[in-house]
Amino acid sequence: MDSALSLRPATAEDIPRLAELNLELLEDEGYRVRPGIDALIARHNAWMASAEWWQDVLEADGETVGYLAYRPETEPLDPEIPEVYLRQFCIARDQRGKGYGRAGFKLFLNERLGHGTRVTLDVMESNPAGQAFWRTVGTSPYFQRMEIVTG
Ligand SMILES: CC(C)(COP(=O)(O)OP(=O)(O)OC[C@H]1O[C@@H](n2cnc3c(N)ncnc32)[C@H](O)[C@@H]1OP(=O)(O)O)[C@@H](O)C(=O)NCCC(=O)NCCS
Repeated sequence: MDSALSLRPATAEDIPRLAELNLELLEDEGYRVRPGIDALIARHNAWMASAEWWQDVLEADGETVGYLAYRPETEPLDPEIPEVYLRQFCIARDQRGKGYGRAGFKLFLNERLGHGTRVTLDVMESNPAGQAFWRTVGTSPYFQRMEIVTG
C-alpha cells in the first residue's frame, strides 16, 4: 500500500464525492439502473440525515480513496447477536490495486465492529471482480438471491 489509510465518518462536505464513487460502483458492478449524480447526492444526503445508515470515508494523504455505507442490525431471531449489513464498499477507480480495499475492510472490522459481529453484504453476479475481492478478504458465500422479471 502506498500510504497509511484511515477511516472517518463522512460529513456533509463529503457527499458530492461519495455520490461520484457510488456512480463508479454502480457502473463497475453492472447495476442495471443508472441514476444521475443529483439523485445519488440526494440518496447519500438522505442516508446521512437518517439514524439508520452510516457512511464512512477511507482517506489516504488527505484524499478520499473510498467509502462504505452500512447499517447495524441484529439476527432476526436473536437480538443478542449483533450484525452489520454492508451495503456499499467502493475504492475509487484510480486508487485500486494498491491494497486500500483489503486495508479498508480490515479497518472497518477493527474500528467499527465489536467482537462477534456478523457482517453480511451482497455482491452481484455481474461483478466477478467484486466476488474475487470478497473471497480474498475472508468472506464466504451465505445465500444466493434469485430473481425473475414478469413478462
Ligand atoms: C473490489 C474493490 C473494493 C477492490 O479494491 P482494491 O483496493 O482494488 O483491492 P485491493 O488492492 O486491496 O486488493 C485486495 C485483494 O483483492 C483482490 N482483488 C482486487 N481486485 C480484484 C479483481 N478485479 N479481480 C480479482 N481479484 C481482485 C486482489 O488480488 C487482492 O488480493 P491480495 O491482497 O491477496 O493480493 C474495488 O475494485 C472496487 O471498489 N470495485 C468497484 C465496487 C465493488 O465492486 N465493490 C465491492 C462489491 S460490493
